[in-house]
Amino acid sequence: MYICSCFGITEQQVRQHADSGACTPRQIASACKAGTDCGSCVRRIQAILGRGACPRRELADQGEPVLTNLEDAA
Ligand code: FES
Repeated sequence: MYICSCFGITEQQVRQHADSGACTPRQIASACKAGTDCGSCVRRIQAILGRGACPRRELADQGEPVLTNLEDAA
C-alpha cells in the first residue's frame, strides 16, 4: 500500500527507513523524499513512526526537557 503517492513510497519502505534509524517525518523525507511534495502523507508517516519502537526518539523525548527540569529545581 502506498503511503506517499507523490513519490510512490510504500508503508514497507517507510518502515525500513524507520528501522534504520529515521524517527521523524523529516528524517523519512531526507531518506526517501516522502512528504516533501504535497505533504498529505505526513500524517500517515507519523502514524507509522508512532507505532514502531524507536530508541532514538525516546532518548530525544527524555533528553533535554529532563535536564531543564533539573536545572529549574536546583
Ligand atoms: S503523498 Fe507524499 S508528498 Fe504527496
